[in-house]
Amino acid sequence: MSATVTETPLLPSVQKFLATEGKLLIDGTWIPALSGKTFSTFNPATGEPMCQVAEGQKGDIDLAVKAARRAFDKGPWRKLTASERGKMIWKLADLMEARLEDFAQLESLDNGKPVAVARVADVPLAIDLFRYMAGWTTKIEGNTIPISVPYAPGAQFHAYTLREPVGVVGQIIPWNFPLLMAAWKLGPALAAGCTIVLKPAEQTPLSALLLGELFCEAGFPPGVLNIVTGFGETAGAGLAAHPDVDKVAFTGSTEVGKLIAKAATGNLKKVSLELGGKSPSLVLPDANIESTIPGVANAIFFNHGQCCCAGSRLYVDKSIFDKVVSGVAEQAKKIKVGPGMDAQTDMGPLVSDEQQQRVLGYLESGMNEGAKAMVGGGRVGTKGYFIEPTVLVNTNQKMKVIQEEIFGPVVCAEPFTDLEEVVTKANDSIYGLASAIWTKDIGKAHRIAAQLRAGTVWINCHNIFDAALPFGGYKQSGWGREMGHEAIDLYTEVKSVCALL
Ligand code: NAI
Ligand code: MG
Repeated sequence: MSATVTETPLLPSVQKFLATEGKLLIDGTWIPALSGKTFSTFNPATGEPMCQVAEGQKGDIDLAVKAARRAFDKGPWRKLTASERGKMIWKLADLMEARLEDFAQLESLDNGKPVAVARVADVPLAIDLFRYMAGWTTKIEGNTIPISVPYAPGAQFHAYTLREPVGVVGQIIPWNFPLLMAAWKLGPALAAGCTIVLKPAEQTPLSALLLGELFCEAGFPPGVLNIVTGFGETAGAGLAAHPDVDKVAFTGSTEVGKLIAKAATGNLKKVSLELGGKSPSLVLPDANIESTIPGVANAIFFNHGQCCCAGSRLYVDKSIFDKVVSGVAEQAKKIKVGPGMDAQTDMGPLVSDEQQQRVLGYLESGMNEGAKAMVGGGRVGTKGYFIEPTVLVNTNQKMKVIQEEIFGPVVCAEPFTDLEEVVTKANDSIYGLASAIWTKDIGKAHRIAAQLRAGTVWINCHNIFDAALPFGGYKQSGWGREMGHEAIDLYTEVKSVCALL
């Protein structure tokens, strides 16, 4: 860890925010949980509690769903024009921009990520997502359909489709990009005209609560967005199973994704899921080594490896394996690990004690099965949830560290000799979220892209996200695509209207 700490001074507004107990946002009002219970959110750099937040449970979810139902069925929200809805979403984005530093500091304190990263990535991407979706409100259209009904000869019809909001939406989000995941979920739901109950991750509820404040300020009618902080097994499960919720959207572990899908069967609510990954990076012999080394290092070390699309399996052509992998190990050594609020920090702590233990468990399992750490391999210090950036070699396809999502700063590097074989290996995973190809031969890159079973293929880059670019997974990485116009499909129903003329 860096010897000197250049602690970022906390904004007075952030200090004030942290000193206030977090409440639930239900029907436009901030209220405590029915049980009166609260829970602590911890600073992962120290392991110390920072702030108390209301612990919503099933009864609170019921209240929130009722409010969302009322706002959808009877509220002024559905009567707004598409343009008015768009302006409100845009106003929310403006209000967020004015509080950019507040969001960056809260995100760093709650999640552990460097405040400098939150400032240029998480918060601006979230703002941009809302602006992109604000533009969609006026472009959600149906079609006119020429029809030919064989059993009604000579009859004329006028047939068309309408795209309507799916209704009340439950959204359950994780802790790795707390604000950005809220934006990915809320943006298209609002653009489509849905009403929402949002359940932030228990590890990182703070930025969603600030977003809720700005939401009220932006003038959205009460009940359009309800926020219930709480735990997954209670609040989250209650939302996923709720009979009056029309759709549930979830980002998190594949294990919980399966529970959500099961819980949704009660009323057959629509489900979209963005789950785990074990994304391969393929480095071909002609790759530009100078840009590939920092590229594949960033693919795994960005956000401390806590990305569903992290480039956690690194397959490098044998002829350049030593050069590339020792380069990545050098990069790993240079990463300054420290508190997210330290301006010198490149990599902060993992989000929680649980995540630190999980990653340490994978490191131990890898070593026991014969893997070797070229660099890293353990925790940093004794306080906070820090893990060393780690490069594992001597791995093979059967090991847990290759098959399972580690969700930490740990990459497994393997050499390959045959391209066809490595494409098969890249696809040998229960996951299919993302992948990357590093080569100067763009034609070859596109041919490989067509063979990879993954929702995203990056060529000579990684972790490039844009509000317009759909994101989601093949196989057990999920159902549906977020962002882009595909996200609007997730939050709309198609209605066919057919009139005999
Ligand atoms: P998780 O899947 O348990 O938590 C994600 C969200 O789901 C949180 O809001 C949580 O409260 C909620 N949740 C948990 N159990 C639930 C249930 N039974 N019903 C409804 N909602 C529930 O993820 P966790 O335990 O924090 O992390 C475990 C692993 O999941 C990580 O190590 C990583 O591999 C993966 N993960 C993947 C993410 C992604 O972006 N795809 C994000 C976070 C975790
Ligand atoms: Mg969990």
